[in-house]
Amino acid sequence: MADSNADRALEALATEERRFPPAATFTAQANTRDRSLYEHAERDFEGFWAEQARTLDWRKPFGKVLEWEAPYAKWFADGELNVAENCLDRHVRAGRGARVAYHWEGEPGDARTVTYADLLALTNRCANALGELGVRTGDRVAIYMPMIPELPAAMLACARIGAPFTVVFAGFSAEALSGRIEDAEAKVLITADGGYRKGGVVPLKKNADDAVARTTTIEHVLVVRRTTQEVPWTAGRDVWWHELVERQSPECAAVSLPAEHMLYLLYTSGTTAKPKGIVHTTGGYLTGVSATHRYVFDIKDDDVFWCAADIGWVTGHSYIVFGPLANGTTSVMYEGTPDFPDKDRWWQVIEKYRVTVLYCAPTAIRTFMKWGDGYVRKHDLRSLRLLGSVGEPINPEAWLWYQETIGGGRCPIVDTWWMTETGMILITPLPGVVTTKPGSATFPFPGVKADVVDDAGRSVPPGGAGYLVLERPWPAMLRGIYKDDRRYRETYWSRFPGRYFAGDGAKRDAEGYLWLMGRVDDVMKISGHRISTTEVESALVSHPKVAEAAVIGREDPVTGQAIFAFVTLRSGNESSDALSVELREHVVKGIGAIARPKTIMFSPDLPKTRSGKIMRRLLRDIANGVPLGDTTTLADASVVETIRTATGAED
Ligand code: WT7
Repeated sequence: MADSNADRALEALATEERRFPPAATFTAQANTRDRSLYEHAERDFEGFWAEQARTLDWRKPFGKVLEWEAPYAKWFADGELNVAENCLDRHVRAGRGARVAYHWEGEPGDARTVTYADLLALTNRCANALGELGVRTGDRVAIYMPMIPELPAAMLACARIGAPFTVVFAGFSAEALSGRIEDAEAKVLITADGGYRKGGVVPLKKNADDAVARTTTIEHVLVVRRTTQEVPWTAGRDVWWHELVERQSPECAAVSLPAEHMLYLLYTSGTTAKPKGIVHTTGGYLTGVSATHRYVFDIKDDDVFWCAADIGWVTGHSYIVFGPLANGTTSVMYEGTPDFPDKDRWWQVIEKYRVTVLYCAPTAIRTFMKWGDGYVRKHDLRSLRLLGSVGEPINPEAWLWYQETIGGGRCPIVDTWWMTETGMILITPLPGVVTTKPGSATFPFPGVKADVVDDAGRSVPPGGAGYLVLERPWPAMLRGIYKDDRRYRETYWSRFPGRYFAGDGAKRDAEGYLWLMGRVDDVMKISGHRISTTEVESALVSHPKVAEAAVIGREDPVTGQAIFAFVTLRSGNESSDALSVELREHVVKGIGAIARPKTIMFSPDLPKTRSGKIMRRLLRDIANGVPLGDTTTLADASVVETIRTATGAED
């Protein structure tokens, strides 16, 4: 764990003494004003979650709350419900159909207001269309779409008929998409002719075609027209959304599904080259995301909630789609990037829709800091009342800037720790109750039990650092890795038997506050996105000129970490700037633009142990320019010197 970056982060955090108690005016109006939720959950853990679950509509009420046979949990297993019905029908039935579900803002400046009634009709039409394409309960559907209202409608349509879906972030390459389609054995792919990004148009349909060509299970491709650009077309297989979906009935019966029915798969990077299909199910997941959304963001009927993530990541699944819709909340959904047409786009959106709660990633906050306060000052942000952060550790400077410059000093900040695997926020302040410290995610959500342990699994004393583990199941937890029980057990449950190993380093201070310090495995966090070093390495070595590659995350002031690749070429090849560009684009082709290495360093050799293992830690220290640790196990000590002298010559 004792990685030099983490050590330095630790020192910085240890000296952080500023405290922000909730303002009395905030607490007075908060959904939770005292410790009663914590106390209830401690006294009666299952009763607490049962109470949360009962805020949903159940077709068949559950009797049993939890069956826990580690490492597999079943929540509310004998109950039945439908997620789409909970997110849409029940609000419409209660006379709230005219409420806005999404204020949707397109990147080019177009906008749509989607009410709950609109979203229900769109979802039902899409569900009927999927039926016409042969999709039945249990069949998998892949979704590769831009941030347009048809995306949540497609997810809800799948949920309505009980077809597990897998959303693949639209920034992923054809190759990445094909791997996910193949693993999920998806029958239908829903995509679009393209999407807008930074003023340009992304060729989604072309990527989708390339992906489908490498797979064997897709029978139909359903295509939304968003950009009207020309797209390749395969007759018989491809179907236009506006032709098929729009002629369907706006009514479609929701299927009553067992609580443990698979809702979706979401692929995420682990420590090998193959992404893991994280399995999320129905009743527990919806319970977890709606409860956390309600309490962590203090959601009220008149809030305008904006989670600025992409729906392609778990943050978007849980806090753009399922949590807010289950709670009948009005959200903002924005298609594009923060700098189009100019660097004040987010602030313009907040002013336009009177956004009250903003949820985003530290990397975005640091980018805005870099762009300067001027862009922020141009807009009236006084509608904001609460701010959230997610995806990576937030440094105190960024936290304070967020608090002051965006929040005008009046908004509590909730730094929320969780993962694709956890489905819901697990470590976070409750904004009306917990005094925050800049950089700390504070305490576990009510009912959640976390610990920080040493190598031997012993709880570290106050002030100590170690590994974060979770000691109890929670309703939105993953139900495994799709088709890979072994990897599931090995990745999360074997390091500390019986406890969930998150893969994060953490410190607990003298007052019990938790400070998350980043990954302890070979997973990088680039702008909050999870990318494995091995995934990038294997993309690099698939290039004919590359013999070997070692990838590490190098500290970066804006993106948290940046991808730094050491590359050894096959003999007969010369390093050059052109080759460096070519290799970076090769990685983009294999994974997607989020994995493009920032720096490629050609090196005649890589430091290895005598048994031939690449010493990544050493490379990390070299890339970060910190004094090298123990080098005695190095097979050839001169390698390090060669690399170090070359470090100045990066990209
Ligand atoms: C990893 C999970 C869960 C939504 C987005 C990321 C890091 C997440 C925090 C936070 C420090 C954080 C961890 C975690 N992380 N939130 N508030 N403070 N680190 O989901 O892509 O599955 O990544 O993100 O390292 O393990 P993900």
